[in-house]
Amino acid sequence: MKITIVGAGAVGASCAEYIAIKNFASEVVLVDIKEGFAEGKAMDLMQTATLNGFDTKIVGTTGDYSKTAGSDIVVITSGIPRKPGMTREELIGINAGIVNSVTSSLIEFSPNTIVIVVSNPMDTMTYLVHKATKLPKNRIIGMGGALDSARFKYRLSEALDCPSSDVDGMVIGGHSDTGMIPLTRLAVRNGVPVNQFLNSEQLEKVSAETMVGGATLTKLLGTSAWYAPGAAVSVLAQSIACDQKKLVPCSALLEGEYGQNDICLGVPCIIGRNGIEQIIDVKLNDAEKELFVKSAAGVRAMNDDLKNVL
Ligand code: LAC
Repeated sequence: MKITIVGAGAVGASCAEYIAIKNFASEVVLVDIKEGFAEGKAMDLMQTATLNGFDTKIVGTTGDYSKTAGSDIVVITSGIPRKPGMTREELIGINAGIVNSVTSSLIEFSPNTIVIVVSNPMDTMTYLVHKATKLPKNRIIGMGGALDSARFKYRLSEALDCPSSDVDGMVIGGHSDTGMIPLTRLAVRNGVPVNQFLNSEQLEKVSAETMVGGATLTKLLGTSAWYAPGAAVSVLAQSIACDQKKLVPCSALLEGEYGQNDICLGVPCIIGRNGIEQIIDVKLNDAEKELFVKSAAGVRAMNDDLKNVL
């Protein structure tokens, strides 16, 4: 299993680190445009191999895509991250051009690859990869829901004052401060609905904090987060590599599912050797359906801006 990660910044390096530590890939190639940067990150990470006990070989390259040839999975993290006060949507002008050119270089050398998109605005960048490559839809996965669901579970365990392993739940919809839909109605603490422990005011607080999870970190860190995004990518990559068929919310191309067409949006997906192997149609109530329609409208407006790139 060969995995390429484009962008050796904090997010890309974190993806490489978690993938290596989990020891399921034979090779990870880090690519960056900054001279020597990916090579340096790869060397530093390789010097943790004996300390952390992994056999994954990590190599870095300054823009030589021939080194990525034959990748089974490629992860696109390139582009600029947001600064405090910025929305993910404000990045589209710069990131769309970068993601478009990176994607074509990747596909040239790995035509059969599965693509995981991390760059923001993530749902629109995932849609861009669909439009630019025309790859089968199962092979293009937007990472957002995996990350947002992890942040939701963190906030739930905090509110419940219980271990994270007791909590399960997911976030669907767009990966944006206003588009995320934390499904509090379906969240459970070891099988018991969380609304037995938390009142509606507490649940609303959990939802609100989940939705601005990325913005809260951007304010604290001065740039966007990297550990949880990297870990979310490693979960998706492992589910593909080991054909685990995990159910993970991801941005997927919708063709009628959830009443939507021609848009990439976060929905629960089964992730296996073939990428998105199935989209799970969860029965939403009327309020959740309304939020999904609103979320789709926001992403669709953003997708319209791609006309200048495609
Ligand atoms: C975040 C970025 C990766 O939510 O979108 O942290």
